[in-house]
Amino acid sequence: MNKPKVFVTRHILESGLRLVMDFCEADVWPGELPPNREEILNHVRGQQGLLCLLTDRIDREVMEAAGPGLKVISNCAAGVDNVDVPAATARAVPVGNTPGVLTDATADFTFALLMAAARRLAEGERQVRSGAWKTWSLDNLLGADFSGAVLGLVGFGRIGQAVARRACGFGMQIIYSDPNPNVPPDQNRVRTNETRIKAKRVELDTLLRESDFISLHTPLTGETRGLINAAAFAKMKPSAVLVNTSRGPVVDQVALFEALKSHHIFAAALDVTEPEPLPTDSPLLKLDNCIVVPHIASASWRTRQNMSRMAAENLIAGLKGEHLPNCVNPEVYSRSKQVPN
Ligand code: GLV
Repeated sequence: MNKPKVFVTRHILESGLRLVMDFCEADVWPGELPPNREEILNHVRGQQGLLCLLTDRIDREVMEAAGPGLKVISNCAAGVDNVDVPAATARAVPVGNTPGVLTDATADFTFALLMAAARRLAEGERQVRSGAWKTWSLDNLLGADFSGAVLGLVGFGRIGQAVARRACGFGMQIIYSDPNPNVPPDQNRVRTNETRIKAKRVELDTLLRESDFISLHTPLTGETRGLINAAAFAKMKPSAVLVNTSRGPVVDQVALFEALKSHHIFAAALDVTEPEPLPTDSPLLKLDNCIVVPHIASASWRTRQNMSRMAAENLIAGLKGEHLPNCVNPEVYSRSKQVPN
């Protein structure tokens, strides 16, 4: 039997790769860097499945290049802002993602960033390495306290709630705002899988004014692009610490630079930026009160194996004509296939 043909835009981990190689005739991009636009367009031609990463822009042109035989797009990430989902839906092509398995790793890492920024970890490390640290003193690298502080979570889905659970252990007060209409309004105690979290829903303005720590957990959409802009920074406390593990464009980086440089806010830590990687001459990288790391919030061994396996399972289900275990556009299953002009 002929195996279905797929393009895999980068190496994925063994747990997923094995499934893909067993079931498909796979063209796996061998490069360490992502394929460029032309390479994607060339390699996707005539494929029935596409397994891609968040570094690949998968738009209508790519789907057209694949042609009418394209049965599934499987994005090896929770976020799908790199995929034109409406264009896929219009072609009745299901789009898969990998939610859930990265919740804990991302929430853990959010805390690592909150603590690193608030307690000036990177500055301290630089002091030691450069020899600038001469002796213990009472006022070297003073930072913010967690206990009793207000943590504002922008986005209160799975990851936001997992961060909230961790924050409870640190004795923080939790407030949140959520642009996602699926979160019921006026919840003061939120039930999660294992525990109840005491968290109060507030307007974004209130969150910006009252939070000592602000952590972003919202998908990138038309509404959230540039959400944390100059006007938002103007409302923040001078002691505010901002952490972004969502998507770079949610934060206006020019406004962030101004807010950090003028000490209008205390510090920031970014796992995600626009673009990625940030150019090495980015002004943000010159600031002591800004930490930037290379989009690694979900980068734990177990999580990345699970993401790879889920992406493979979505791909294979789509090729078999079955419902994807994790599909972001399930409406495709109630639509007939219509390819727009
Ligand atoms: C990572 O950023 C993801 O969306 O999985």
